Amino acid sequence: MDFTGKNVLITGASRGIGKATAMAFAKKGAKVGVNYKNNDEAAQMALQELPGEGHHLFKRDISQKEETKALIDDFIKVYGQLDVLVNNAGISIFHELDHVDFDHWTHAWEKTFETNLFAAANLCYWGTKAMMKSGGGHIVNVSSRGSFRGEPTKPAYGASKAALNAMSQSLAKKLAPHHIYVGVVAPGFTETEMAQETLTPAERENLLRESPFKRMARPEEVAHAILFLASEGAAYSSGTIIDVNGASYLR
Ligand SMILES: NC(=O)c1ccc[n+]([C@@H]2O[C@H](COP(=O)([O-])OP(=O)(O)OC[C@H]3O[C@@H](n4cnc5c(N)ncnc54)[C@H](OP(=O)(O)O)[C@@H]3O)[C@@H](O)[C@H]2O)c1
Repeated sequence: MDFTGKNVLITGASRGIGKATAMAFAKKGAKVGVNYKNNDEAAQMALQELPGEGHHLFKRDISQKEETKALIDDFIKVYGQLDVLVNNAGISIFHELDHVDFDHWTHAWEKTFETNLFAAANLCYWGTKAMMKSGGGHIVNVSSRGSFRGEPTKPAYGASKAALNAMSQSLAKKLAPHHIYVGVVAPGFTETEMAQETLTPAERENLLRESPFKRMARPEEVAHAILFLASEGAAYSSGTIIDVNGASYLR
């Protein structure tokens, strides 16, 4: 896979799967726009680690709809053209139905959908306008195994990712005539900061048992699937959802 001369925008690329994806694209010659929300230090470090030249940081809170247009505008000002959009940024908030009050419940649903679904939808809206001007592009949306398997302690997370799958498939149909190809990567638990911060040792043990590989996904393995869907030759795979879950949940 060669991305020389391609301009790639990745949301939530200051750490975790997004950072590994930025690294993978940069190694293959792309110029990468690294979006993030808060953590300037992590973003600077992620930028410095990228091989090659022409990478930039784009600090924007994509859960705010005005910021999604601003992000695409900023990107086009710098690069002139958007070839690949990776909607990777995501949040997950625990909100077990029988453990939380109604305010917590509604807050979790609203915040989760703003970041995991509405941001991706809005970036697809503005991003495809840019792509249409330059003759096409690729969109890869990062979903989750939880969209199929259920997320009993974070139902909004599972629902937001299921909606992201459905949106991606609708857009794959809509956008094919415009030479814009839309795919989804659905990782299982992945060894990122988010996993390290949220898992107790007992939960980690349980998770390791879920896959016959007896380990979690590595961020680089998720990045590999993202690059495939964004690559030349993957056009006819538009609408596909690639599971990267170590055969822990087969559908
Ligand atoms: N890790 C897993 O086990 C796993 C499994 C399945 C699916 N996924 C999905 O994979 C994606 C990446 O997960 P991860 O574990 O790599 O995440 P992570 O380590 O928590 O990193 C999240 C990234 O998203 C950014 N971000 C969050 N909210 C944002 C916003 N409103 N605007 C802009 N950037 C925002 C963060 O920036 P700041 O730090 O600056 O806020 C950070 O760069 C997510 O969609 C997640 O749902 C992860």
